[in-house]
Amino acid sequence: MLEKFKKIASQAALKYINNNDIVGIGTGTTIKYFINMLSNFKKKINGFVSTSITSTNELKKYNFNIYNSNEVDIINIYFDSADEINNNMEMIKGGGAALTNEKIISSIADKFICIVDQSKHVNILGKTHPLPIEIIPMAKSYVTKELSKLGGLLKYRKGIITEHGNIILDIYNLEITEPVKLEKYINSIAGVVTVGLFTNRRADIIITGNYDYTVSTIKNIKL
Ligand code: 5RP
Repeated sequence: MLEKFKKIASQAALKYINNNDIVGIGTGTTIKYFINMLSNFKKKINGFVSTSITSTNELKKYNFNIYNSNEVDIINIYFDSADEINNNMEMIKGGGAALTNEKIISSIADKFICIVDQSKHVNILGKTHPLPIEIIPMAKSYVTKELSKLGGLLKYRKGIITEHGNIILDIYNLEITEPVKLEKYINSIAGVVTVGLFTNRRADIIITGNYDYTVSTIKNIKL
């Protein structure tokens, strides 16, 4: 149902790629559509820095150059989706368990284009989608105890080990009224690798596929 809105937003995002760009690429169903659209893309892309094995495998189908994040001086632009995005362009991400790589690559990138369907827009983060946190396994008990103090329902994601060998805790039913503060706080707990709150690295542009088949763009920067 939401797939067509993800697709029209992905199509609209293509125009932000410039010749010879090094492009950061996220993970998820939206990004899979976006990558597939690049197969007929006319401009010359220098190469990609990918956030997951899944996205890398998609990119390899089209023989794109793949770089790792340590061999590039710059990532011109980063494309990804989100689980939720608010009016300040802050996001919850990590539904696909790639949050750590997504935070690293988006932080390196000059610009972050977030491609979403309308359902991802929320006023308050955390109410409809859980907040994911990547945790080093030996810190599981300690981090669980600390995070229990926040309220919400804590559930470890079953059968998921991240590409870094860690586990994911999802906190359901949070109302995140102070996302900046919460990102800093959760990041300060020993054993937390990454919290899927993106307030420090927000989106610069949001491209939304709306339910009436229009596409809207919100910009925080000049492009
Ligand atoms: C992966 C993510 C994704 O961007 C997020 O889960 C949205 O996914 P989809 O495009 O499948 O709706 O953060 O870690």
